[in-house]
Amino acid sequence: MADPPRRKPRALVTVPNLLSFCLVASVVVLLLVSSNSWFVFVHGVSYETITVVNEFPHDPEAFTQGLLYTGNDTLFESTGLYGQSSVRKVALRSGKVEELHKMDDSLFGEGLTLINNRLLQVTWLQKTGFIYDHKNLSQLGTFHHDMKDGWGLASDGKVLFGSDGSSTLYQLNPQTFKAVSKHVVYYNGHQVYNLNELEYIHGEVWANVYGADCIVRISPKDGAVLGWILLQSLRKEQIEAGYMGLDVLNGIAWNHEQERIFVTGKLWPKLYEIKVLPIKTPIEEGIIEQLCLRKPFKFL
Ligand SMILES: *[C@@H]1O[C@H](CO)[C@@H](O)[C@H](O)[C@H]1NC(C)=O
Ligand SMILES: *[C@@H]1O[C@H](CO)[C@@H](O)[C@H](O)[C@H]1NC(C)=O
Repeated sequence: MADPPRRKPRALVTVPNLLSFCLVASVVVLLLVSSNSWFVFVHGVSYETITVVNEFPHDPEAFTQGLLYTGNDTLFESTGLYGQSSVRKVALRSGKVEELHKMDDSLFGEGLTLINNRLLQVTWLQKTGFIYDHKNLSQLGTFHHDMKDGWGLASDGKVLFGSDGSSTLYQLNPQTFKAVSKHVVYYNGHQVYNLNELEYIHGEVWANVYGADCIVRISPKDGAVLGWILLQSLRKEQIEAGYMGLDVLNGIAWNHEQERIFVTGKLWPKLYEIKVLPIKTPIEEGIIEQLCLRKPFKFL
């Protein structure tokens, strides 16, 4: 009896198998590389861009250092520069300055906030701030704060949040102006220096980073970076429209009732109402560092 014909053993390594293995392997490698090294989203940090909902006129001579919205289409603004510093009440829609308190020529106005119907303002290179009546902007007094300099101010109605141009976010007691907490803000292992104008929005502190067209969203609990908002399009649009005298993006105001966000800049002819939108496509590694982080303005 003849042996049944032996089946030819099937070779595992054939040319088609090898080709498909190579294809699958290269796709896997590409996916790994793209998630680990070419493109980076830092865990727990959101990345957002903006869309413009409305544009309003803004005094192009206002060197904006503090901005807040108090209802009824009304903004309060603090401006800087020696000889030009002021606190103003501004009509949102027309940009018209309805009240103005001119500061002494020796003072450089900085961050502004409202708490208990009093406007509080800090000043650059000084630890003295000013208190104003929010109705007529008459000066009610001064205060001394616990920060190294006066840059930004915001409030949740209970505490003050402050910045001094360093990477530290302060919480200050609104009666004594003593620091009740200090958190150094880090992103991806880097200190976020030059924290500037501040706003308290939905339990977060939003800060302009001086010299960058970015807003950083900070947790007031521990100083953690919750997100970055990229606003490069605003400067670009104004420059393309022929405005040459723009200084940096600065000023965030929040209309809590209508959930409207307003931003402007120093010497900007426009104030924008914006909405933030998540960036869904991955961001190239190092882009946030390049666009949004700046060297310390000065050593504090
Ligand atoms: C709102 O603003 C308008 C225009 O400035 C003013 O006439 C009106 O009295 C304000 N209303 C309130 C409630 O403050
Ligand atoms: C400003 O308003 C306050 C009360 O709200 C009043 O006491 C003060 O006299 C006013 N100042 C001026 C200069 O009108």
